[in-house]
Amino acid sequence: MSTWSNLNLENSASPLMEQLTFFHDHTLMILVMITILVGYLMFMLFFNNYTNRNLLHGQTIEIIWTILPAIILLFIAFPSLRLLYLLDEINEPLVTLKTIGHQWYWSYEYSDFMNIEFDSYMIPTNELNINNFRLLDVDNRVILPMNSQIRILVTAADVIHSWTIPAFGVKVDGTPGRLNQTNFFINRPGLFYGQCSEICGAHHSFMPIVIESIPTNFFIKWI
Ligand code: CUA
Repeated sequence: MSTWSNLNLENSASPLMEQLTFFHDHTLMILVMITILVGYLMFMLFFNNYTNRNLLHGQTIEIIWTILPAIILLFIAFPSLRLLYLLDEINEPLVTLKTIGHQWYWSYEYSDFMNIEFDSYMIPTNELNINNFRLLDVDNRVILPMNSQIRILVTAADVIHSWTIPAFGVKVDGTPGRLNQTNFFINRPGLFYGQCSEICGAHHSFMPIVIESIPTNFFIKWI
């Protein structure tokens, strides 16, 4: 979970988020190199007083500074496309969780099992326990098994919401009349926090998501 003065991405809890973090770092390094180069060139302009009244064009340098940035962009574009298609891959999920966004809470259905369904509301500030996170903890957590492929189906009942868990690299819009799908794989146990990320009304900030990741045998026991 992200906390104060945490400037980077939070630790990943799924292989896809790990890849997203690598891609972020990779792109940031390219960005730093470009910024340093351009910054140096702009700074050096202050000290440049060469004039040449015969110089009207420079084909060679024009070709170089057109082609070179294009090649650099390819180094961002190809890993980006690779990730895009990787994120869309569905790898035979073992569990399917249906998530419905409401104003302003989430409700969940485990259709594979005894059709368990429940609502998940944020715990109001005046009802918090000492170890709860304000605006982040919920009354009913989503329990999911670790080390197995999980599919989530996301929709909404009223307006557009967005089911977002940064640690899994998951962000899916729940749209009324549509059913969106994505999948993830949790590779460690723990509590993972997320929030709605689609401006959905007055209490948009107050519909958090809490995932409780547990070993599969405990999950079977729970179900
Ligand atoms: Cu639901 Cu913002």
